Amino acid sequence: MIRPATVHDVPRIQEIINSHAGLGKMLFKSLAQLYEDLRDFAVYEAPTPAGPVIAGCVAMSIIWADLAEVRSLAVDEAFMGRGIGRSLVEWTLAEARRLQIRRVMALTYEEAFFRKMLFQSVAKESLPLKVWSDCVRCPKRDQCDEIAMVRLLTEVAPVEAPPAVPTPSGLSVPVLDSTED
Ligand SMILES: CC(C)(COP(=O)(O)OP(=O)(O)OC[C@H]1O[C@@H](n2cnc3c(N)ncnc32)[C@H](O)[C@@H]1OP(=O)(O)O)[C@@H](O)C(=O)NCCC(=O)NCCS
Repeated sequence: MIRPATVHDVPRIQEIINSHAGLGKMLFKSLAQLYEDLRDFAVYEAPTPAGPVIAGCVAMSIIWADLAEVRSLAVDEAFMGRGIGRSLVEWTLAEARRLQIRRVMALTYEEAFFRKMLFQSVAKESLPLKVWSDCVRCPKRDQCDEIAMVRLLTEVAPVEAPPAVPTPSGLSVPVLDSTED
C-alpha cells in the first residue's frame, strides 16, 4: 500500500500536508517544493469503496553519510489511528537500511508518536547545520519549539566519512516572508 510518489500524487500530498500546516503542526509546502523533492516521497494508498485514495505521505531526505531525515510525515485526519503513520515511518527506516544510513532523525511536535517508533529525543545542537535549511521558511524563526528525535539503526554498520558541519550555538537564520512558487 506504500509506493513511491509520482507527479499525479502531488496535489493530494499538498492537500494533506497543508491541512496540518494550517493547524501549525508542520510547514506549508508549495507545489514547487513538492515537485523538487518528489523523489524523496512515498504515499500510502488506502482502499475505500470509491477506490484507492492517498491517505498519507512521507519523505526521506539524506542529510549526511550517517543521517537521514523523516520529513513531511502526514496522515489525512480521516485516516488517523489506523497504523498508517507507523507504516510510513517504517518505510523510511527500510529506506535508510537499504542505503546503509545508520541514524534517522525527525523534527517534530509528535514526541509520543515517535517514541513509539523507538526514536529518542536529542539536543538540537547535536544535529548538523544542514538540518536547519527549512528554517528560512518557518514563521517561528528563532523560537523553534520542535523536538529533535533520532532512531539509531544498530544493525547498520558505522560508516567512515568526514563529519558534517556542526550547528553553531546561538544560530540565527534569515526568514523568507513568502512560500509562493
Ligand atoms: C503523527 C501522525 C503521522 C500519526 O499518524 P497515525 O496514522 O494516526 O498513527 P498510527 O495509527 O500509525 O499510530 C502508531 C502508534 O502511535 C500512536 N500515536 C499516534 N499518534 C499519536 C500521538 N499524537 N501521540 C501519541 N501516540 C500516538 C498510536 O496510538 C499507535 O500506537 P500503538 O501502535 O501502540 O497502537 C499523524 O497524527 C499526523 O499526520 N499528524 C499531523 C502531522 C504531523 O505532526 N506530522 C509529524 C511531522 S514530523
